[in-house]
Amino acid sequence: MTVQTFIPNGAKAASENTVTQPTHTHDVSIKKLYIETQGCQMNEYDSHRMADLLGDSHGYVLTTDPKEADILLMNTCSIREKAQEKVFSELGRWRKLKEHNPDLIIGVGGCVASQEGDNIQKRAPYVDMVFGPQTLHRLPQMLDQHQDQVEKPKKDKIKLVDISFPDIEKFDFLPEPRVEGFKAFVSIMEGCSKYCSFCVVPYTRGEEVSRPLDDVLAEIAGLAEKGVREISLLGQNVNGYRGETFEGGICTFPELLRLVSEIPGIGRLRYTTSHPLEFSDELIQCYRDLPQMVSHLHLPVQSGSNAVLQAMKRNHTIDVYIEKIAKLRKIRPDMHLSSDFIIGFPGETDEHFEETYQFIKDLDFDHSYSFIYSKRPGTPAAELEDTTPEDVKKERLSKVQHWIKQSSIRKTDAMLGSIQRVLIESVSEKNPDLLVGTADNTRLVTFVGDPSWVGRFAEIEITEIKTLNLVYGELLNLEPDVA
Ligand code: SAH
Ligand code: F3S
Repeated sequence: MTVQTFIPNGAKAASENTVTQPTHTHDVSIKKLYIETQGCQMNEYDSHRMADLLGDSHGYVLTTDPKEADILLMNTCSIREKAQEKVFSELGRWRKLKEHNPDLIIGVGGCVASQEGDNIQKRAPYVDMVFGPQTLHRLPQMLDQHQDQVEKPKKDKIKLVDISFPDIEKFDFLPEPRVEGFKAFVSIMEGCSKYCSFCVVPYTRGEEVSRPLDDVLAEIAGLAEKGVREISLLGQNVNGYRGETFEGGICTFPELLRLVSEIPGIGRLRYTTSHPLEFSDELIQCYRDLPQMVSHLHLPVQSGSNAVLQAMKRNHTIDVYIEKIAKLRKIRPDMHLSSDFIIGFPGETDEHFEETYQFIKDLDFDHSYSFIYSKRPGTPAAELEDTTPEDVKKERLSKVQHWIKQSSIRKTDAMLGSIQRVLIESVSEKNPDLLVGTADNTRLVTFVGDPSWVGRFAEIEITEIKTLNLVYGELLNLEPDVA
């Protein structure tokens, strides 16, 4: 999620919507697919796979204009109520498009689909297909079934709803990801078994299931061969990864990181999201041993109050979090840390909130996401009494967000004079003498350089701070191409 996972530029907040961008050229004779993605990077990843899949199976090409599309897909998020409500208001707009074009096919996938199932079609009967996060690989068959029954009378039509959790078969049916640029996301696991008391994810995406090790490594090796230099490993709880090995053993997340960093070409490694409880010493050691791992970590904590953490069923105290971060910063003093916070959880008192506020100050986070608690049907926290008035919650949220914003600005300002490792990603659109890349902490770095360096890593000394997310610098060293 949304959620959010999460960071300036490196990730996005749960509330943002994105439209999956086309990589193909325009051709009016070709059938067009429009995908709107809500929520987290897992959904972003899934949307790209849907586009690849329908491109391969039915020749669909992505468009950014829903009006010219033959099929509209909405990949939904249910992490907070607002996100869920947005689905139906957006569908109302799509209904109008279908009134003008009765052949238009509308599909709803993602976590709201998973939660609502055929209720979606009860509320929005013009929706043709409903599929869940674990059944999106069956889209081509669903589409064929839909076409087969287009001519049939309404009473003979079967409802196309598939929101089951058929283990991990999804990945066996998805085509190899297409590559754009030098960065790629690789999903290593699905679902979550942590059952935090406020969260719908275990219900909408199912329990944790890891992809087999060889599949993950083969996908990354393939991406590296196509020029990818930075990999972001994705999952709701990546440090719960337990991938089956070829020999029938189990590979843990720290072991996976070590194996991925041995793949020629992979010069930088990120991952999101992990849980503090399983943020093990072995994982911390990876930061000592693997230069590919960025000095940037998104580690959601949710609250700085032990009482609230307990009610959230996070299963750790703030001391555990503080201790782990201290160990990590000992190895990587330049570590940029970000987190998620839920404000106004049922029972959160002024004192609890002040503990969280102080915790945010003490931990010196870079960027963090914060949300007002949203009651999700079916979760244990939905049963808790919630007496805090909405305006108190809003006040708390704005206090936290103000601090977080100032803290990000301070972190960017502190980059002045520092040396940053940058993945050079493009030539500046405004000035062809300038190159643009990203630092470990996801800030954009601009400097004078040669276009042939694009795709390589460089050490850049930061000489000027332009904005919160943009700094200027000078080349100190260009690394040899890692391939
Ligand atoms: N797997 C990730 C997070 C998934 S959800 C983790 O371990 O934390 C992303 C974020 O959305 C969470 O970290 C939490 O801060 C927020 N979130 C989840 N459920 C929420 C709810 N019911 N109300 C408000 N925010 C919520
Ligand atoms: Fe949700 Fe907690 Fe898992 S926030 S995704 S149940 S770790």
